[in-house]
Amino acid sequence: MLITRLSARRLPDGWCAALPVVRHLAERGVPLTAPVTFLVGDNGSGKSTLMEAIADVGGINAEGGKAGTKYAGTGPATPLGEVLDADLTVTGGRLLHGPRLKRRAFFFRAETLVNLARGVLTKEGKGFWADDLTTQSHGEGFVTVLDYMLDGPGLYLLDEPEAALSFQSCLRLAGLMHRVAGEGGQVVCATHSPILTALPGAQIVELGDHGARTGEWAKLPLVDDWRRFLARPDLYMRHIVDDDP
Ligand SMILES: Nc1ncnc2c1ncn2[C@@H]1O[C@H](COP(=O)(O)OP(=O)(O)OP(=O)(O)O)[C@@H](O)[C@H]1O
Ligand SMILES: [Mg+2]
Repeated sequence: MLITRLSARRLPDGWCAALPVVRHLAERGVPLTAPVTFLVGDNGSGKSTLMEAIADVGGINAEGGKAGTKYAGTGPATPLGEVLDADLTVTGGRLLHGPRLKRRAFFFRAETLVNLARGVLTKEGKGFWADDLTTQSHGEGFVTVLDYMLDGPGLYLLDEPEAALSFQSCLRLAGLMHRVAGEGGQVVCATHSPILTALPGAQIVELGDHGARTGEWAKLPLVDDWRRFLARPDLYMRHIVDDDP
């Protein structure tokens, strides 16, 4: 583990002070109790806001990237990042705030993967990754980057990595997370995926109007929704498809 608890020193300035999860961070904090933590919750519940702030604390550009490179940020890019405190283990201090070349933190966000890959390709003159991302499909590119980056002790922040992934690729990603956790890495992943969140031993933190609380996979609304939908898709579609002229 690198980070064992997140909290906010005070409420940040601006819009994000109104988010329940941000108030929760300021009032009570959120412990991280396992090497893999999933942040779940409705659209707009604050998952990405928190992920970006953790990236700030980890010294990674909130746009996505790798710590200790030119893609690393120069300062807090988000209002929450300015006030977020992370309780670090000794390993966490070394890997996040130690000598620049020893830092190990990566922020993977679906939206910025393409820019990141292009930037790295330009810088190196050839592919940073073994396979050239420009010749791969969307999902193949994701898997290539994840395969390459999830490796060894370090902090891995993933914001909805399932966006381009098939069922099988999601299972593979869950396996990568498990492997990297065993290697001393820590993963924090915002997701809507019932597959990823089923990873045994992972901590699930539900964000919502209540703030933040520990959740149990079988009781998550996202799992329940899928279960009900797959059992009776026709019932859901009856409300969506209007046959009347
Ligand atoms: N720069 C900004 N200015 C104002 N409001 C913002 C800004 N960024 C995010 N918000 C608001 O903060 C809330 C939380 O957004 P956030 O992106 O963290 O949600 P999320 O949980 O990641 O949602 P999703 O599941 O859709 O990715 C949203 O209501 C959003 O509109
Ligand atoms: Mg988001």
